[in-house]
Amino acid sequence: MTHMALEVKESLEDRCNRILRNMESSLTARDRVGIQDLVLLDAYTSETALLDNLRKRFHENLIYTYIGTLLVSLNPYKELDMYSKKQMDNYMGVNFFELPPHIYALADNVFRAMMSEYNNHFILISGESGAGKTEASKKILHYYAVSCPSTKILNDVRDRLLVSNPVLEAFGNAKTLKNDNSSRFGKYMDIQFEHQGGAVGGHILSYLLEKSRVVHQNHGERNFHIFYQLVEGGEEDLLRWLGLERNCQHYKYLFQGDCAKVSSINDKNDWKTVCKALSVIDFSKSETEHLFGIIASVLHLGNIKFEADARGYASLNHSQEIHWLSKLLGIPGQVLQHGLTHRKIEAKTEEVFSPFSVEHAMYARDALAKAVYGRTFNWLVNKINESLANMDSSRKTVIGLLDIYGFEVFNVNSFEQFCINYCNEKLQQLFIQLTLKSEQEEYETEGIEWEPVPYFNNKIICDLVEEKHRGIISLLDEECLRPGEASDFTLLEKMEEKIGGHPHFLTHKLADQKTRKTLKRGDFRLLHYAGDVTYCVVGFLDKNNDLLYKNGKEVMQQSNNGIIKYCFPPSEPDRKKRPETVVTQFKSSLAGLTEILSTKEAWYVRCIKPNDAKQPGRFDDVLVRHQVKYLGLMEHLRVRRAGFAYRRKYQAFLQRYKPLCPDTWPNWKGSAAEGVQILIKHLGYKPDEYKMGRSKIFIRHPRTLFATEDAFQVCKHKLATRIQAKYKGYRVKGDYQKQKEAATKIENCWRGLKARKEREKREWAVRIIKRFIKGFMTRNEPNGADNREYLAYVRQTYLTRLKENLPETVLQKDSWLTPPPIMKEASLFLKQLFIRHMVRKYVQGITEERKAQLLLKAQTSSMFKGKKENYAFSVCLPFVDTRIGIKDMNMKVLQMIQHENIKYSVPVVKYDRNGFRPRPRQLVFTREAAYLVEEAKIKQRIHYGSLKGVSVSNLSDNFLILHVTCDDIKQKGDLVLQCDFLFEALTKLTTIIDKSEVIRVVQGSVRFDIQPGREGVVDFRSGQESVVYRAKNGHLTVESTSTKSR
Ligand SMILES: Nc1ncnc2c1ncn2[C@@H]1O[C@H](COP(=O)(O)OP(=O)(O)O)[C@@H](O)[C@H]1O
Ligand SMILES: [Mg+2]
Repeated sequence: MTHMALEVKESLEDRCNRILRNMESSLTARDRVGIQDLVLLDAYTSETALLDNLRKRFHENLIYTYIGTLLVSLNPYKELDMYSKKQMDNYMGVNFFELPPHIYALADNVFRAMMSEYNNHFILISGESGAGKTEASKKILHYYAVSCPSTKILNDVRDRLLVSNPVLEAFGNAKTLKNDNSSRFGKYMDIQFEHQGGAVGGHILSYLLEKSRVVHQNHGERNFHIFYQLVEGGEEDLLRWLGLERNCQHYKYLFQGDCAKVSSINDKNDWKTVCKALSVIDFSKSETEHLFGIIASVLHLGNIKFEADARGYASLNHSQEIHWLSKLLGIPGQVLQHGLTHRKIEAKTEEVFSPFSVEHAMYARDALAKAVYGRTFNWLVNKINESLANMDSSRKTVIGLLDIYGFEVFNVNSFEQFCINYCNEKLQQLFIQLTLKSEQEEYETEGIEWEPVPYFNNKIICDLVEEKHRGIISLLDEECLRPGEASDFTLLEKMEEKIGGHPHFLTHKLADQKTRKTLKRGDFRLLHYAGDVTYCVVGFLDKNNDLLYKNGKEVMQQSNNGIIKYCFPPSEPDRKKRPETVVTQFKSSLAGLTEILSTKEAWYVRCIKPNDAKQPGRFDDVLVRHQVKYLGLMEHLRVRRAGFAYRRKYQAFLQRYKPLCPDTWPNWKGSAAEGVQILIKHLGYKPDEYKMGRSKIFIRHPRTLFATEDAFQVCKHKLATRIQAKYKGYRVKGDYQKQKEAATKIENCWRGLKARKEREKREWAVRIIKRFIKGFMTRNEPNGADNREYLAYVRQTYLTRLKENLPETVLQKDSWLTPPPIMKEASLFLKQLFIRHMVRKYVQGITEERKAQLLLKAQTSSMFKGKKENYAFSVCLPFVDTRIGIKDMNMKVLQMIQHENIKYSVPVVKYDRNGFRPRPRQLVFTREAAYLVEEAKIKQRIHYGSLKGVSVSNLSDNFLILHVTCDDIKQKGDLVLQCDFLFEALTKLTTIIDKSEVIRVVQGSVRFDIQPGREGVVDFRSGQESVVYRAKNGHLTVESTSTKSR
């Protein structure tokens, strides 16, 4: 999880609460666990108080304490449960004062400072050997590995960074009296971060490996771990291949210290770790083989024994080792053997080999072993660097970790301790320059009232060692290089001569009586900033020369072991040009380191060793007090206390915090200093919490700044919210306006569209109406452009209407829809068509009888329609075949006329010709004649041939007069009858005789023959009621009611 992610995840409020909780808990716990930051110590000038505080905390397993941002760390000598992933998460993104002091807090703050300021940093971890520097650096590295943002590629880098450590420790660390895992080389490691905070690469610089350890170890110390790891942990096959036995006691280079086995070290496990690590950092199989071949070779080399031959020269009798060396290094045995026993002397033009004495040979052998190991170590560092190299060339920021061997004092101190302690002097000098001195100088230049804190500046010691021409290094080099009989003792004399008067230098000769007792003749003593160290001068020249005989080098150049080949390149400069001495190389590499560090922001971890016995829970006051002193903690504390935790240029300070004050926000017009003054007044800074310098503000306590920073964070959120709100408002308003405009536009368009449509519709309507009117006006003109449509319309509507109003029956044939003029003709056709159609339908629907009936009716109609008044009433009365059935007729009559085929019989009233008396009779029509029948008598037979005509009136009476031809006087005359079924009877009659013209409809009076030559008259007239009577004039008067008036 990244820091950023954490910040996002945790709300500001949560954060404030957490901080408050932590502050409270640390306040209540203060008495018990001392003070977390020594700057807050009341008795800050008292070393005892500081010591008490450290002790109190140490006994509570609180090994970390701050002095401002400097971390003091005490070695607990036991595993503490405070390095878990959870702890790492706790410390992520947290300010120093928020949680109990921790190495993770420092690591995290460095990281965040790097991320926010985008610059380079380094963490200087100092303290004496065994104080916990290496552990601290590992914890920091681990913190970055776990907590930095990561990707799959970055994980790879992270793994390499992590595993490079055990490899380097295996080859460069050893058990010493001070520390079971003492770093015997200096290490500066750069971790490179890309802009998002992911670790993308690393680089290691190593400083002066203590090579002498390869061939010699003091009692109680060991050679480098890797030898023991190989012998103890190496697989059987491997050991067999390397010609090694699983027993350290077999190897001279391993048993001198007499402590090959150490309880705190598990060589077997470490071996596995190293082998695994090698594969992670890309060691090929052959590289691994060559590497272990070299380690084994060194062991074999150490076991070579020389014997003096007859002339006293060294000879190699036991060649077992030579055999293995030859195999592992790929150098012929003869060459090796010769190289180890002879030295090459160059005399003018020729080269001569001169045999070694035994002592010399041993020296040369050891020199070779050291050279081989030392160069292999450098190769290893290069190899690791290759694997850590970051290929991406974009800009990186780095955090450097400096874990260098600590100040060291043994019973016998030699050249190595001299170099190591010199290195520590230099780092102390750097520390002084970066903190105490520069701090105080800054106060002066800024014109801040300031009482200088006295501190011991170790420059005087640095000068004593490294000053050109006069310093110890110069003198040592001079002795090494000068011709003639130079020895360690001549060096001592020279030093006494040149620097004898220096207050930090002492020898047996220079010392007073009392001190002299503590010095041997071959010793010199340096009064280091961290204490006095007595060095034995023996071996200084040799070690400084680091002599490797040319012969030995040439032998190595023949090797076919890849690593040896690389380490001993054929082009190595000739020995004629002397290489730089060891100490000079070291001096310049330290100068280089100082340069590297001085371009970066420094952070410090000061490691303190609580006791010399590596025991947990033991706090040795004297020992700790001594370290507190030489580490300059008191001075640092005093400067911190007197000084200011934080400073910043007015401009920058104002720029960052101006939102916190309404007067300075958003813009301040005046000078930056005035602005800051107003700002901090608004923030309520107390006068003793800050000082105003020439160009910077100085804030005394971190908490003041933290409070300001927290306020800023809160305010930033508010501001951001406000700006966001404003911006959102602005955007929304803009959007709204746009939408509104768009809406109006759309509306306009829509309305326009609608209006246009409406107008078109109206125009269309007007056109249509006009056309309609015009059509209407011209409807009677011939079909033309003007009225075509109208007429079509008229036609259509008429036809539609007609369809709906067609007559339903034939009888309604007059109810035809009146057609418009243009349809008259068509309508007529249609009407005829339709009526014909109806008639047809009707006709098809009627039965034979009905047809017959109708034919009769039609005949009746043709005879009487419009002629006789009461005709109309008869139409609806159906005709029947006869009105008198056969059975109702007299049998006698029937017998008489039946043969003539009776067609029709009907009851009638016969009016006598004389007197016009009414008599009921039957009128029977046969095929031949009409008979008037009374009961059984046929009263009168009228042959149709003699029927002249039948008269009926035009009125509504039922009278008929049958006119007959009377030739004979006996013959009866015309018949005056009244018949209720007048129309039926007459129609039947005309049908029978097939002569309709016999019927005559008359008006007024009808004359009839009573007898031939004697006439009667019947007068027909309309009256109030139907009456028949004999009028006075002798006429028969038939009055009938007029149907017209009814
Ligand atoms: N923080 C720690 N927690 C537990 N043990 C520690 C811690 N720091 C140091 N030690 C112990 O002290 C020993 C020496 O520490 P180391 O870092 O190697 O010292 P230096 O590098 O200063 O010489 C370690 O091997 C370890 O056993
Ligand atoms: Mg170390």
